[in-house]
Amino acid sequence: MPPASSPPAVKIQAPKGTRDFYPADMAWHMHLLDAWRAVSVRNGFEQVDGPIFETLELYKVKSGEGIVSELFSFRRTGGETDFAIRPEFTPTLARMVADKANALPKPIKWFATPNFCRAERPQRGRLREFWQWNVDLLGLDTPAADAEVIFTCVDLLAELGLDSTQVRVKISHRAVVKQVLEKLGVPEDKLPGAFTLLDKRDKMTPDEFTKEAGKLGLDEARVQRFEEVCRRKYASGDLMHLARSLAMDEPPEDLVKLDEQLRAFGLADWCEYDLGIVRGLAYYTGVVFEVHEATGVERAIAGGGRYDQLIELFGGPAMPAVGFGMGDVVLSNVLADKGLIPDDVGPRPDAFVLAASDEAAAQLPAVVSELRRAGLHARMSYKATRNVGKLLKDATNCGAKFAVIVGEQIEVKNLETGDQSAVGRDALLDALR
Ligand code: HAM
Repeated sequence: MPPASSPPAVKIQAPKGTRDFYPADMAWHMHLLDAWRAVSVRNGFEQVDGPIFETLELYKVKSGEGIVSELFSFRRTGGETDFAIRPEFTPTLARMVADKANALPKPIKWFATPNFCRAERPQRGRLREFWQWNVDLLGLDTPAADAEVIFTCVDLLAELGLDSTQVRVKISHRAVVKQVLEKLGVPEDKLPGAFTLLDKRDKMTPDEFTKEAGKLGLDEARVQRFEEVCRRKYASGDLMHLARSLAMDEPPEDLVKLDEQLRAFGLADWCEYDLGIVRGLAYYTGVVFEVHEATGVERAIAGGGRYDQLIELFGGPAMPAVGFGMGDVVLSNVLADKGLIPDDVGPRPDAFVLAASDEAAAQLPAVVSELRRAGLHARMSYKATRNVGKLLKDATNCGAKFAVIVGEQIEVKNLETGDQSAVGRDALLDALR
């Protein structure tokens, strides 16, 4: 019989818009997840998570057409239910809260760091799989809650080295934008469409935008008037100017109260009011905000706002809610551009154990396992060479703090200071600690 021939080799690519995380990529990824977690915990949020797929129905309820058309949905062979890979966390969170609303202590302060899939056209800042930090506070309808959530967001940005000249929190209010649109003559039933259109305007040519706005009853002059309103930015403490530009006697009360709280949290420098921010997702009801790189070259680093009706919509009690999502992709792009990605974020070995002779090599497993059992990050040389100079280079290259040279006796070399001394076997752990 002829020998079975092996099938021809095939080279299979990863799906478009996904990433492979090699060790260096993973080290940064974990650094980011650790920072998200640490900042959440110190701001009093508890970690939660949900399934990576949900019934398609969950997203049809309120996420808005924007997100439904971006889903990866599927049905099992022979199955009858449509499912979708999660594109965001808010519907899952609303389902979870609605399910156990009475049993959960209030206020509910939750964070999550899941990965999501959206069937978008991959481009800079937009992938088909990404990770997102979600921070949500439910059960409080005070502006202090909005400010605390924004504080948590800014706390993370500052933790990673960004300052208020590099990134801006742009705040708007759905009710104020609605008022502007109403004044411009957009009828009530066309308002949801107007919000969706405004959110997409950066992705459209001016002609496309004018044409779509026309369908909502906005002629060219009105589109221009709206553009004027959207282009202006107002600093914290400057809401009177915003009122004047909208021909109002007083600034909107909701924004005045929020501004007081933002100042109380020490956030005035980071925040500005920008009515051009409307947010595409359909569930927002009040304050909305996005974090942008200051020059505006990147997509939003984070986005969120108030969604006071969503829990009720999922069969829970009436419960006010505010939160945001921050993606890993744009954040990493911004940090990389500003030189804020350190190259030493991976786990650093405490010790690199090497053998100076063949007899000593037999002792390496015992030495290394003792260090590991004691909780130290210990690596060892796998090479056949006993050239200590060459092996010390390997120790330095892997970033170890100490080299443990096992020979007739054990020597410990501090790879930062270069100090080297002999230690007894019993004293090795102490020498490394
Ligand atoms: P979102 O605006 O859809 O909001 O996403 C928030 C952030 O996630 C964006 O600013 C961006 O950084 C990142 N992001 C979104 N889509 C992609 C993508 N395709 N590729 C890379 N990054 C992406 C939400 O998801 C809301 N559920 C947030 C929220 C939580 N609102 C209240 N609580």
